Amino acid sequence: MVGLPARGKTYISKKLTRYLNWIGIATKVFNVGEYRRAATDQYKNHDFFRADNKEALEIRTKCAMMAIEDACKYLLNGGEVAVVDATNTTRERRKMLVDVFTVQHNFKLFFVESLCDDLRIIEANILEVKVCSPDYLGVDKNEAVKDFLQRIEHYRVTYESLDYNLDNDMSFIQIVNQGDRFLVNKLAGHLQSRVVYYLMNIHVLPRTIYLTRHGESEMNLTGKIGGDSDLSERGKEYAEKLAQFVVKENIPNLKVWTSQMKRTIQTAVNIDAPKEHWKALNEIDAGICEGMSYEEIQEKYPEDFAMRDQDKFHYRYQSGESYQDLVARLEPVILELERQENVMVVCHQAVARCLLAYFQDKTSDDLPYLKVPLHTVIKLTPVAYGCRVEYVSLKIDAVNTHRERPKMALPNGSIKTITDTASCSCASKN
Ligand code: SIN
Repeated sequence: MVGLPARGKTYISKKLTRYLNWIGIATKVFNVGEYRRAATDQYKNHDFFRADNKEALEIRTKCAMMAIEDACKYLLNGGEVAVVDATNTTRERRKMLVDVFTVQHNFKLFFVESLCDDLRIIEANILEVKVCSPDYLGVDKNEAVKDFLQRIEHYRVTYESLDYNLDNDMSFIQIVNQGDRFLVNKLAGHLQSRVVYYLMNIHVLPRTIYLTRHGESEMNLTGKIGGDSDLSERGKEYAEKLAQFVVKENIPNLKVWTSQMKRTIQTAVNIDAPKEHWKALNEIDAGICEGMSYEEIQEKYPEDFAMRDQDKFHYRYQSGESYQDLVARLEPVILELERQENVMVVCHQAVARCLLAYFQDKTSDDLPYLKVPLHTVIKLTPVAYGCRVEYVSLKIDAVNTHRERPKMALPNGSIKTITDTASCSCASKN
């Protein structure tokens, strides 16, 4: 990252990291401010960041170096992307990054600079996240804002923005005023293109995403998976209640997205809002197991059943899909969701788990076990660096389609929940 303080670098770092991990690219943030806090006593004031404070500058450079070294270790030990979340505002500091990452280690280096001259955006950022930083524990809000603005001024003294002429050999993107304008220079490779595409699609406008499964279906009643059945009587009741819920919420410019399956289209039918029906939102394809109950699958395909319990994220149904396939199928949906404002997504259990994992930053191990009950709306509202999640039950009974993570009996008689798939050689149905 490159940019003055309060330019959204941490927001971008965290969000990009969440996205890359979700699409299966092992990514981690290295925040130099955290190294500085660990290396020094409680922060006193902005003087620490003065360009002429030699002692502090030495500490700051050391902390940056520690973060860079840890980032290298991470990349040498299986990590694929390391995000160095720091100001990196001088050419000298960026040269240090080039020397370590590209000259010493031959890694690809991509700079993301956030530029912002809109004072309202900067002040909103300071008030939202900076005054709550550990640097200002117990400090009056106004005092904290004043100190932080002075900190920015110290950085400004030596700030050298990335320059199309001077830094022409470097790969970088400059993001101006949270996405009003972009400048992209010398993209090197597929991953950088994906990063750029993602960064060009996100926005920071306030909005809520409403996530719900279809109402209970006829096949839910018989305990069978897949298929394309109609809603049950209780499912139809949910469709009515859902439309009333939308009216009560009074959501500006709401758009409704469903899958192309009857049960999601029927669930959204009463909602008064523009609708789109996405094939990408269809339920996971259970292949040869479509239309079967879990008991039937266990009886007919015991090996498949056990394999799925061993590693539910990667297990692919014969002639069907895995959760991993589903994440790949849903990537365009996530990117379009990032571009949109208020959207209600009416989908299916496995699909909702994948979407929820993206917003909640869940690992691929936890993803297939996320709870997404029927007849419940999940409200996802972006806040600071994360997302507030609220479950709103519309209070209509429904069957429970959730299968808990299987437990494995240990030789000492205790029970272990299977989380470490590599260490398990057998699994039993819960
Ligand atoms: C900080 O110490 O909070 C920021 C360090 C940096 O300049 O990157």
